[in-house]
Amino acid sequence: MKKLAIMTMKGGTGKTTTAVSVAHGLSLSGRRVLLVDCDPQRNSTLTFGAKSEQGLDTLLMTGDVEIIQVRERFFLIDSGGSKLVQVELRLGLQEGRENRMGEALKNLKGCDYLICDCPPSMNLININVIAFCDEVIVPVAMDHLSRIGAHQTTKVVEEIKKMTGNSSIGYRILPTFYDSRTKVSVQVLEQLKEEFRGHLFDGIIRINTDLREAPGHKKTIYEHAPLSRGAFDYYKLTEEILALYEDGN
Ligand SMILES: Nc1ncnc2c1ncn2[C@@H]1O[C@H](COP(=O)(O)OP(=O)(O)OP(=O)(O)O)[C@@H](O)[C@H]1O
Ligand SMILES: [Mg+2]
Repeated sequence: MKKLAIMTMKGGTGKTTTAVSVAHGLSLSGRRVLLVDCDPQRNSTLTFGAKSEQGLDTLLMTGDVEIIQVRERFFLIDSGGSKLVQVELRLGLQEGRENRMGEALKNLKGCDYLICDCPPSMNLININVIAFCDEVIVPVAMDHLSRIGAHQTTKVVEEIKKMTGNSSIGYRILPTFYDSRTKVSVQVLEQLKEEFRGHLFDGIIRINTDLREAPGHKKTIYEHAPLSRGAFDYYKLTEEILALYEDGN
């Protein structure tokens, strides 16, 4: 099972949109996918109009969890909302606190991909996610503060790699909200190519209103606007992910 974390410290860069769209894209390509909502905002969960009393919060505390089927071959774990914040505070006092997520999720078998939609911060949950994932996907909106957020995030990834001795954790930058009409988009994309050489996806997610509308209809982009630019860009990204992680690269 490939474990992908969608994470950056900066808010509003397209993390949830990427998590939901890639997860659905992979399931449409025949893979079994588990999306774990790790954000107390519950944005991934709300996108599907789902709710569970046994989410990531209870999984981390007791090992019990409800796995909700949201689409064919596509499953979801609710974050537990504000209860996850309380769990995080309690975990902070325990031994081995940075490995709790890995321990809790290691029994969940039977999926090809596990995708974590992470909150915009660097809290204990995110540190746990980095410690057990194979790759951190860092969505960067085309502005300077998002670019700085990507540097802050990848620095933490490097630190956790050293701390855990797990050198196989990788990261990859995903440009989002790209608008070729604006100078700042072109400029930030160029800077990302320079600064993260070898760590950038080929795919770029362009700005697209359909992506913004889809969650309001409790639909993914493939259901809301299958012919949109958003659907096209995320499908291309899904194909790139399949090529990267299934061809042994
Ligand atoms: N490429 C895009 N074009 C236009 N709107 C987008 C695009 N990607 C995401 N959005 C919209 O922008 C908003 C923020 O996106 P999203 O919720 O995915 O970001 P996030 O990084 O998960 O935010 P948070 O940090 O709060 O978790 C949402 O309303 C979403 O629908
Ligand atoms: Mg989000």
